[in-house]
Amino acid sequence: MIVANTIAQARQQIADVRRHGKTIGLVPTMGALHEGHRALIRRCRDECDFVVVSIYVNPAQFGPKEDLAAYPRDFDADCRACREDQVDLVFAPNDEEMYGQSHLAWIDVDRLGDHLCGRSRPGFFRGVCTAVAKLFNIIAPDLAYFGEKDAQQLAIVRRMVHDLNFNLEIRPCPTVRTAEGLALSSRNDYLDDKQRPQALCLFEALRHGAAMVSRGVLDAQAIIGEMKALIDKQPAARIDYISIVDEEFLQPVTQITAPCLIALAVQIGAPRLIDNIRVAPPE
Ligand code: PAJ
Repeated sequence: MIVANTIAQARQQIADVRRHGKTIGLVPTMGALHEGHRALIRRCRDECDFVVVSIYVNPAQFGPKEDLAAYPRDFDADCRACREDQVDLVFAPNDEEMYGQSHLAWIDVDRLGDHLCGRSRPGFFRGVCTAVAKLFNIIAPDLAYFGEKDAQQLAIVRRMVHDLNFNLEIRPCPTVRTAEGLALSSRNDYLDDKQRPQALCLFEALRHGAAMVSRGVLDAQAIIGEMKALIDKQPAARIDYISIVDEEFLQPVTQITAPCLIALAVQIGAPRLIDNIRVAPPE
């Protein structure tokens, strides 16, 4: 496994691989790799000749009130995981390499960031899109892997790839959960013993909402109301949002008439957790 810290090193490796006509897969991450990330890496390993994992805690997607310095980092453990999963190249640039002294070009995707996490984290998706676009330009992958856990990120990145004609395909990967249903996230490490069981309310509420839809309850407010009541039972839970949105533009719907996403963000003590489920009206 090669570790490249500079864009020049990464590009040189990629040029070699390209000369041999191999397919290149990219898994963009911010490190602190867990089984959720590793599911993406293994899928990439199965489908591509050359597997690139980027590890970069992107400052452009942290707001002024979000603690960039506290984001978990363990580069050695990440490299061990990548070696185990037979990654070919780890691209781990520093801020100087990614953004230099002055960085003035940014990518914004309209509309898709208006609701859900975009509302409580202004500038977040601009930061994500810019970093992801840079990675796409540096690595030039054929395939790039993203988790459905971050459904809004996935939809926005797909839209960016489509609208800006990036020459690659996005592969969405299902959310990896604990046996009880908690979506894996580096933020789960901040939950204490009392909060951890309470965090299960996110997926319980989503499952409850999905069950209502399959019973034919299609009124968004009715579903959101019952989900809210379930989450409010947990003393440590503070709801940021529960929304039902259409899959393409991520706009709130009042009635479920086509496949939709039920998405939520809930603070359990300090950490803010997100999760979502796809639902469709019964045939
Ligand atoms: P990060 O939070 O490290 O996540 C990297 C990738 O792993 C994302 O595509 C995310 O959706 C996926 N992922 C995380 N937890 C998952 C889980 N439990 N199941 C399935 N997939 C999961 O998302 C980012 O980094 C950044 O915004 C990034 C795209 C790297 C841009 O900086």
